[in-house]
Parts: sequence; C-alpha cells; structure tokens
Amino acid sequence: MITKPTIDRIMEATDIVEVIGEFVQLKKRGANYVGLSPFANERTPSFTVSPAKGIFKDFSSGKGGSAVTFLMELEKFTYPEALKWLAKKYSIEVEETVDTTENREEENHRESLMIVTGYAAKFFHESLLETDEGKSIGLSYFKERGFSNDTIKKFELGYSPDQWEAFTGQALKDGYQQQFLEESGLSVKRDNGSLYDRYRGRVMFPIHSFTGRVIAFGGRTLKNDKNVPKYVNSPESEIYHKSNVLYGLYFAKKAIREEDNCFLVEGYADVLSVHQAGIENVVASSGTSLTVEQIRLIGRFTKNITILYDGDAAGIKASLRGLDMILEEGLNVKVVLFPDGHDPDSYVRNFGTNGFKKHIEDNKKDFILFKTDILLKEVGNDPIKKADVIREIVESVAKIPDSIKASVFIKECSYLLKIDERALLSELNKMRSAKARKDSQQQISRPVPVDETLLDEPQVKIEREDYSQEKEIIRLLLLYGSRVIDWDGIANTYIGPFMIAELSDVEFENATCKTFVEVYRREVENGVLPDEQYFIHYPEKDIVDLTVTLIATKYTLSDNWYEMHKILVPDEQVNMKATILGAIFHLKKQKVGKILEGLRMELQKTIVEADQEILLNQYMHMKKVEKTISDYLGSVILK
Ligand code: UTP
Ligand code: MN
Repeated sequence: MITKPTIDRIMEATDIVEVIGEFVQLKKRGANYVGLSPFANERTPSFTVSPAKGIFKDFSSGKGGSAVTFLMELEKFTYPEALKWLAKKYSIEVEETVDTTENREEENHRESLMIVTGYAAKFFHESLLETDEGKSIGLSYFKERGFSNDTIKKFELGYSPDQWEAFTGQALKDGYQQQFLEESGLSVKRDNGSLYDRYRGRVMFPIHSFTGRVIAFGGRTLKNDKNVPKYVNSPESEIYHKSNVLYGLYFAKKAIREEDNCFLVEGYADVLSVHQAGIENVVASSGTSLTVEQIRLIGRFTKNITILYDGDAAGIKASLRGLDMILEEGLNVKVVLFPDGHDPDSYVRNFGTNGFKKHIEDNKKDFILFKTDILLKEVGNDPIKKADVIREIVESVAKIPDSIKASVFIKECSYLLKIDERALLSELNKMRSAKARKDSQQQISRPVPVDETLLDEPQVKIEREDYSQEKEIIRLLLLYGSRVIDWDGIANTYIGPFMIAELSDVEFENATCKTFVEVYRREVENGVLPDEQYFIHYPEKDIVDLTVTLIATKYTLSDNWYEMHKILVPDEQVNMKATILGAIFHLKKQKVGKILEGLRMELQKTIVEADQEILLNQYMHMKKVEKTISDYLGSVILK
C-alpha cells in the first residue's frame, strides 16, 4: 500500500490541467478548461476541467473525477498504478507499507518479481551501453539494424554478457533472492542447486506491462547457428502471462487512441522500426497467435486493427481462422500484405515513413474480402471446394455482431464469389439463428434458483430506484458539512457531524451512499471533518464518481457559475435548518414508508392469527412514527 504522506505529496504536486492535457487538447474558457471528450465521439467540446476544484467532468459520457480517476478511466490503471504514474511524472518517491495479509503477500510477491525484472532490465541496458563487450557486440548490432539511440533508450534495449553467471552473480551480490531470480525466469537452476543465466550473449528486448514496468524479456541470439533458438523468451510467471501482453503497447497506446487504429505486426524488430519511423500505434503479439485477451486489450483503445503480414502464404492461411475472433469481439479488421522477402521492419527502413504509409493505404483490405480472395485462389473449377469456401466466409461474416455491417460484407462477397446475394444471406441467417439457439440453450440449462420468481420483483424495484433522497443527503454533506450550525436550540456543532448523528438510525440502501456515510462517520469519529477535496481524492472510484456528479453540474462548472450561484443556491441557504432537517426527515419518512409497505405485504400473506397481531402492532407503531415525522416536517421545517 502506498503511504498516506506519499499520496498527499502526489495530490499536492498534481496539476489536473497538466495531467489531462497530456491526453486531451484543452482550451481555457473562463476559470475552466474544455476539450473534446476522450471517452465519447463528439464534435462540440463538453469535457470540462476545473483546476480550482481539481476535477474533470465529461458531460458526454457522464464520467467525472480527479486526475487519478481520469487515469484510471482512460489508461485503465488501478488506483495504485495511477498514483505511481503521477509520482513518476512529478518525480516523487513512492513509499509503500508492507501489510501481512495474504493478499498483501501475493502483491508483495508480484512486486518482488517486478523489482528483480526491473533490475535486470537496467543491468542489460547498462551492459549494452557501458561495457566493452556490450558496445562491440550488442550495440553495434542494433546500430547496424538502424535503431537510433533514442529508440534504444526508450525501449530500454539491452545486452546479456556471454557468460554463465554474469547477471545472476551480480544480482545475488546486490542482495536479490534466489527465489525471485528463478521465478522470474532470469536465472535457471542447475541440478546442484546453483543458478546460471538464462540469457547469454543475446540482445535483450524488455517487455513492458501496459503501465510501463518491465515484466519479461525476449533475447535474440546474434549467432547464425541453426541449433540455437533465435529468441529465448521469459517463461510464464506471476507477472508475465504471455497471452495477456502485447509487445510495445505501453509505448503505443496514446497513438492508438489518437489514430483510432492499431497496427499489429509479428516481431520485436518490426515494432521498433515502425515506431522509430514515427508510426507509433504499433504492437506485436510476439511469437504467439493472437489471443482474445490481447484483442480486448487493443479494444480498450480502438475498435480498428490493421494486421501487417510479411508475405508467407502458408503462414497467412494458417492464421486466418484465428482472426474470426477479432470479428467476434466487434472490432474492424484490415489486413495488409508486404511483398515477398519484406516485413514491416525491412519495408519501412527501405522505403521510409511515407513509402510505408502509402503501401498500407494502397494495399489494405478488409479482412473478410482478403480472406475470400485468398481462399478463392485455391478453388479453381472445383464446385465442392467452392461450397466449402462459401461456408467458411459466411461463417466469418456471421461472427460480426453488427448486422448492418455483416450485410454489407455479404453484398461484396456475393460479387467476389459470383453467387447470388440472397443465397448468401439465407445461409447467413441460418447460421445466425443456429448461434442464437445455442446461446439461449446455454442460458436455459443454467440452474435457476427455485424461488427466483419471488425475489424478482423487489429486486427490479430497487434497481430502478434512483436513491435521490439518499443522494441529497450526500450532496448536503459535501456542500455544507463543514459549516457551523447557528440555529436556535442547537449550537457549537458542524452540520456534517450533526447530520451523521441524526441519521444513525437510517440504513442507506444505495451501496455507494452507504459507504460514503460510513466513511464520513468514521472520519468524524477520528476528529476529522472530511470535505469535498477529501472525497474527490478518495481511493474508491464509485465514491469519487458520486462526489463529482453531485458537485459538478453544468451550472457550477459553467462560466456564469457565480451568476447561477447567486440565483440557485441562496434559496436553500436562506433557511439552512429547513434544508438540512428537511432532507433528513424526508429520507426517514421514505424509509418508514418502505417498512410500512413491507408490513402491509406480510400482513396480507399471514394466516396465523397470532402473527397477524404482532405484525399489526408493528404496523401501528410505525404509523405513529410516520405521523410524528410528518408533523415535524410540517410544523418545524416547512412552515
Ligand atoms: P521473427 O523471426 O520475424 O523476429 O519472429 P524479428 O523480431 O523480426 O527478428 P529479426 O528481424 O529476425 O531480428 C517474429 C517474432 O516471433 C517470436 C519473436 O517474438 C519474434 O519477434 N519468435 C521468433 C520467438 O519467440 N522465438 C523464435 O525462435 C523466433
Ligand atoms: Mn524481422
């Protein structure tokens, strides 16, 4: 866990305009900044940043929060990841406490693996740039391949000395534990228990997590020996799950979002060369065939993937089936082939950035049409083969969730396959309804709890409720909690603690409101009055969302806020006592109303006379409570 003083230092240093400005073009407008929402497609900017409050509010998507929640939303960071990103940006050293719970241990375990892997990256990088062997062998190889110093630094490329224990020996000397060296795959255990280096005499490509930490390596041999594997990659570990990682994504994600497209290549070298050429929205699946997880990872940033193949026909054909998966995820897939003997790396080095871009523009094909082309080439005059191809193509089209898009493809395929569009459509519909049947069968076969019908109704009712009374309490706590009460009869207290005490017998139903009140109560008990800023920077996203939604209305963030303020707010401030007590007792009345409703329903169902009497007594009692509240509301407050 990151310590409180560190969090405070990060919050103090963070300038929300600066942080968001790295991702969104912001223009100053009055006291605020506005820009185009990074979460929604919009043409008129509705995305507002308030430096004074330290919040953003996106009126298109409804998202809002602090700089931290912004990073969590946009970069898909966890809370600690977002804090660490900010700490790095503002050069703040992060202090973390060690906890002893099981969860913590696991977290610490992962962290230890990350630390030793990060240490290794540094070791290999320095060995590349600062040792004679590294410079003469590794660095000269990279230079020969055309990688610039900037690229080498940015991607932290390295070199592993051609010795058995150069790295392991140094790591042990520096106090790193055997266990982590072994589990991270950096060192390998001999039969006698001693460790040796996995990577020897290889150039090293560190693989970054999408938050930018090194979690694994690919090491390329420099030998031309057929018996030596070209690449040695890190084994799977607690921090490295190959199928969840895309090489280069950390460096590419900003460009992917901006370009709204992701280039997918095969190798490390392709990523580096294309990136170096200024085309930064490029990632590689690094030697594995693409997985669903990797597709979803890309899908967080764009819905468009362009696959860049080096032209090996057999390899391409083998990969076609795997690509249906991308369609199923609702992404648009385009494919570009490179001429024989060229891969993206060699092509961009030979023809430059513009030549590369032009090649892509001229040759990109929609995946379905590309697949149709390739498969048709093999058909010749064989009608059976042709029927197979048709089925396969329609199968792919059936995977596209968007049926309008699917029908456009059917039209084009009917032309390519020289087959009546209606025939294809009827085939498509057959497949779709078969799929729908299968899906719904899976649903039916799921065990259904016996009394589900009984549970159904109240659940639905609760979901539809908007908890406006509960939220009103939260809004008042946020706005007026730290004001002193100056009403007759009550003095020497603040509105917040007063409200909390008054509400001690009320059970909040909305989970976020409930947590909010619990947090507020806890802080009050600790002698702290939590304010707006406290909740804007609270570590739980739901709480921040609720807070920002309640305090950031179009009015409070708009330029004539002051005007609006004068008009809107005074009426509730004129009689604070009525406002506060009104909210409290309206909520109480609502809760009592619900209890009464529940008792009424139970009464209807009960046949046993004794039970009926108990319920009736409860009912009468609650009725009295309701009346008291109504009277109170009427006489004291709303006169
Ligand atoms: P390539 O052989 O195309 O690698 O394999 P490359 O990165 O373009 O290397 P150069 O250009 O020859 O230097 C594509 C990817 O397949 C994986 C690596 O991730 C590589 O980048 N691969 C390849 C392995 O994991 N192991 C291998 O033995 C070969
Ligand atoms: Mn290559």
